[in-house]
Amino acid sequence: MSTSPPTKTVFLTGASSGIGRATAELLSERGYEVWGTARDISRLLKLPGFHPVRLDLNDGAQISTVFEKAAKEASGFEALINNAGDVINAPLETLVSNGLRSQMETLFFGPLELIRHALPEMRRRNSGCIINVTSLAVQFPIPFNSGYSAAKAALASCNECLRLELTGTGIRVVDVQPGDVHTEILRRTRELNEPECAAYEPNLSRARASEAGKMEQACAPQTVARLLVKLLSDPSPPPRKTVGNFFEARLATTASRILSRRMVERLQRLIYNLK
Ligand SMILES: NC(=O)c1ccc[n+]([C@@H]2O[C@H](COP(=O)([O-])OP(=O)(O)OC[C@H]3O[C@@H](n4cnc5c(N)ncnc54)[C@H](OP(=O)(O)O)[C@@H]3O)[C@@H](O)[C@H]2O)c1
Repeated sequence: MSTSPPTKTVFLTGASSGIGRATAELLSERGYEVWGTARDISRLLKLPGFHPVRLDLNDGAQISTVFEKAAKEASGFEALINNAGDVINAPLETLVSNGLRSQMETLFFGPLELIRHALPEMRRRNSGCIINVTSLAVQFPIPFNSGYSAAKAALASCNECLRLELTGTGIRVVDVQPGDVHTEILRRTRELNEPECAAYEPNLSRARASEAGKMEQACAPQTVARLLVKLLSDPSPPPRKTVGNFFEARLATTASRILSRRMVERLQRLIYNLK
């Protein structure tokens, strides 16, 4: 039985698979009106109250037009969920000239641009909710996913600044940091294999294998979707929520709080089998 008001309007990025798709399904079930994005809209589900939107976050020039058109149709958005994301996997040395900017566009500048466009209407109404889906990689950066980890950390930092800057308003902002989630993200990860990657072997292959192994214990995207939908109606959400299997959601975050960074690094070397 739906408990949310049926008029709630949400702009959700990355609604064609994984966490975004599960969130779109749950929101639709609960009577929300959802404008959900993907680069290829044929990948989007047909659901009650769901409006497909074509958006490539890597193309900064289209973000404003796409968002404003959707906002007009929705008569303004009460919530923005910055969820879309992808991963480029390579040594930092390779990534700097080959993918780092793209990661920053998709995972940092794109979401910020959407926030910039969503805020004026939220300020006018003095209410609204912005959820940024970052990653546990903010607390535990992933080797050979440095662009991804850095972009997520940058967004998490802006999330904290924004909460402070919006003090005294009715606008709620929250950073959701999932651990491993069983979605298409790993299969769709772009692994670069430039000549200089060879210098990082066998650690590069070990880290990639470890990422794949961790996915075996990953939680279902519906777990994250339930949290996202719950947060939409939370009148006072925390700055950050970690979500994942027991190890990641509870033990890893406690470890990140109490261990020295050197100890965290040792733990990371063990997890990714780096020698
Ligand atoms: N799965 C995990 O283990 C995990 C862990 C921590 C955080 N996260 C975060 O959770 C979010 C959702 O990931 P997921 O696991 O659900 O991945 P997913 O199944 O691969 O879905 C990613 C979504 O993002 C969209 N997308 C990718 N690149 C885009 C771009 N440049 N412009 C616009 N849309 C783009 C994809 O749509 P199209 O390809 O159809 O355009 C798709 O809908 C991401 O931000 C990810 O970083 C995931």
